[in-house]
Amino acid sequence: MADIILGIESSCDDTSAAVISDGFLLSNVLASQDVHKAYGGVIPELASRAHQLNIVPVVSQALTLAGVGMSDITAIAFTRGPGLLGSLLVGTSFAKGLSLASGKPLIEVNHLQGHILANFIKQHDKENRHPEFPYLCLLVSGGNSQIVRVDSPLEYEILGQTIDDAVGEAFDKCSKMMGLGYPGGPVVDRLAKEGDPERFKFSKPHVPGLDYSFSGIKTSLLYFVRDRMAEDPDFMEKNKADICAGFQKALIDILMDKLIKAAKMTGIRQITIGGGVSANSGLRSAIVREGEKRGWTTFLPEFKFTTDNAAMIAIAGYFHYLAGERAPLDVAPVSRLAEFH
Ligand code: KG4
Repeated sequence: MADIILGIESSCDDTSAAVISDGFLLSNVLASQDVHKAYGGVIPELASRAHQLNIVPVVSQALTLAGVGMSDITAIAFTRGPGLLGSLLVGTSFAKGLSLASGKPLIEVNHLQGHILANFIKQHDKENRHPEFPYLCLLVSGGNSQIVRVDSPLEYEILGQTIDDAVGEAFDKCSKMMGLGYPGGPVVDRLAKEGDPERFKFSKPHVPGLDYSFSGIKTSLLYFVRDRMAEDPDFMEKNKADICAGFQKALIDILMDKLIKAAKMTGIRQITIGGGVSANSGLRSAIVREGEKRGWTTFLPEFKFTTDNAAMIAIAGYFHYLAGERAPLDVAPVSRLAEFH
């Protein structure tokens, strides 16, 4: 009989549910929250409320689209953290209630592990390539910037991470500063394609080892724009494509320098990316370009699996299920990675 996992994700501002059967995706439903756009960032209180409204219809639709009922489900996997506590509480409590009512076992999933394993989601009529172990994952989102060494589905080690802001925050801040809206990544990405990345240069931080820093470059963009606007109030409007292109190039260079260093240090040539920023067209091209140059085998997740989604929670849950892991009913969400056991 097939192992059918229902995945539930509610760590930030996307409510998502997915069903996978023996690793094959049957459904992946996502309700995004437009309510935050007006504020230029995610408002935790509003996110929790929207999850509360969305979770029942989203889970119900995921089951319907997959053509299964709760009686067919083998286990319920949910995101335990890291993320916004109020958001996590909605998904966790819902999963616990559903487990209690249906008698199906509960499986806790680390959100980051979902991103790391996104390439293992199999789809009918697709090539379904996945990396061999060990591989390196560049995990880049609105909350994280990490290089992770993955030795097996359940064994991984963080080799480097940001010491301040996440790279997604730098994209979002750039967009906010320039009045381009939220989330910033997709807008900056689109404008960068029309701009000249060599015209305005932003200096890279000097951080030892494989760690990252993105707060300094955010500030240098702020000062750059402020100083130029003092000379010409229309400077930003006239040059926004070139500013975005230069800023995006600097962020990608920072990410790639450390990834190349990690690949050299570990000798690992299987390279993947994950997280919302892995949707960035410039970053995707840079990974492929460097991969060809350095003999890496590269894996870029489909766009729908780059941002928060429950399919990746379901696949990670599937691996935990196969390993015999189950969560107790008194499991509580954790907001920070450090609290994860
Ligand atoms: O993984 P994600 O959906 O949520 C978490 O942070 O957990 O990532 C969201 C981040 C935002 O900062 C958003 O601006 C960024 O991913 N992002 C992008 C692109 N699409 C989304 N950044 C750069 N280029 C993109 N195309």
